[in-house]
Amino acid sequence: MNITIVAGARPNFMKIAPLIREINSRPETNIKFRLVHTGQHYNENLSQVFFNELGIPHPDANLGAGSGTQAEQTARIMVEFEKEMLANPTDLVIVVGDVNSTMACSIVAKKLVTKVAHIEAGIRSFDLTMPEEINRMVTDALADYFFTTSSFANDNLRKSGIDYSKIFFVGNIMIDSLVWSSDKIKQPAEFDSQKLTHGKYFVATLHRPSNVDDPENLKTIFKAIEEGVGDQKVIMPVHPRTAKMLAGIQWSSNSIILVEPMGYLEFIYLIKNSLGVITDSGGVQEETTYLGIPCVTLRKNTERPETVTKGTNELIGDNYPKLRESIGEIRAGKWKRGAIPELWDGKTAQRIVDVLAAIK
Ligand code: UD1
Ligand code: UDP
Repeated sequence: MNITIVAGARPNFMKIAPLIREINSRPETNIKFRLVHTGQHYNENLSQVFFNELGIPHPDANLGAGSGTQAEQTARIMVEFEKEMLANPTDLVIVVGDVNSTMACSIVAKKLVTKVAHIEAGIRSFDLTMPEEINRMVTDALADYFFTTSSFANDNLRKSGIDYSKIFFVGNIMIDSLVWSSDKIKQPAEFDSQKLTHGKYFVATLHRPSNVDDPENLKTIFKAIEEGVGDQKVIMPVHPRTAKMLAGIQWSSNSIILVEPMGYLEFIYLIKNSLGVITDSGGVQEETTYLGIPCVTLRKNTERPETVTKGTNELIGDNYPKLRESIGEIRAGKWKRGAIPELWDGKTAQRIVDVLAAIK
């Protein structure tokens, strides 16, 4: 079988790496792939660093879509991916996650009567103010094969009328990357330069438009974090969307240390050795649950509820007094311990390739 694997933005790369490694290790399946990078993310530290660190091969094509409004970016990816598929038709397109590249390439593939497999299908925040929720809904309305991470995702798909036979509960492929990297993670330079002590600092990542696009709101969040952490340091790798906002506001802090987005191996080292994490990232909610690190999420909802019901995650929405309190509870060692959700075991890619190999 010939397949096209699509990736475009930072959280896609740790999801395709285990899949590619597994396909390459099983030549008997006769699965041949083309890797297409849409170019949605293009900065070295949002893209190339993950190819280097996770051993992802150079893409067969880079569509160079770049940034823009929701419609501009989606449209550019669609126009370029249609050219790619017309020039290099395959039997199946594999998309991962919920970014604009995921939805755009699913639409193009289906209109060219090519089957689509969605890895991380079925998760829902039920919050249509998030572009990702629209991407998830559209992708799952079109896909032929649904690879899921949780029973919540399975239930959502069944409720929307998807036939059981198309849903494959394979676990969380992002955790495959985490397991694979466990003996490869690297202490980031900030550890020495900021004189960090293991287990005695926080990590923060913020990039959701609802948190960062209003500079006053961003300042309020920073103030609450500073008050919560007291004399402890917070290392914050800054996403370019957030960097743009920060450039326009007057702000300085002794405790929040802003750094460039990190490579995966450095970032995982940083969170694994932290006291706690403050985030609005989808993937980081999952990684902290797997690693058993306390996580406070600045969102009102999550498409990954098992990180709250089973894992170490708590949602605090925009309740900033609660943000301060939660950080205080983490510092006092009062946080819940959590457990690892079913099938988050590092073998998801293996199960996906088993399914792919059986497709006639
Ligand atoms: C995108 C995804 C989001 C994901 C996030 C991961 C969508 C709708 N959003 O959000 O789900 O959580 O990636 O990081 O697909 N920029 C750069 N360099 C880059 C990429 C972006 O400078 O390599 C800047 C541009 O100014 C751009 C802004 O960041 O306008 C936002 O980028 P964009 O890809 O539109 O959305 P993200 O916020 O990155
Ligand atoms: N990540 C990283 N470096 C950073 C911040 C995040 O490698 O500086 C990784 C993180 O470990 C996770 C992924 O990026 O694997 C999450 O991506 P992001 O938060 O951008 O997107 P989301 O998951 O919210 O869609």
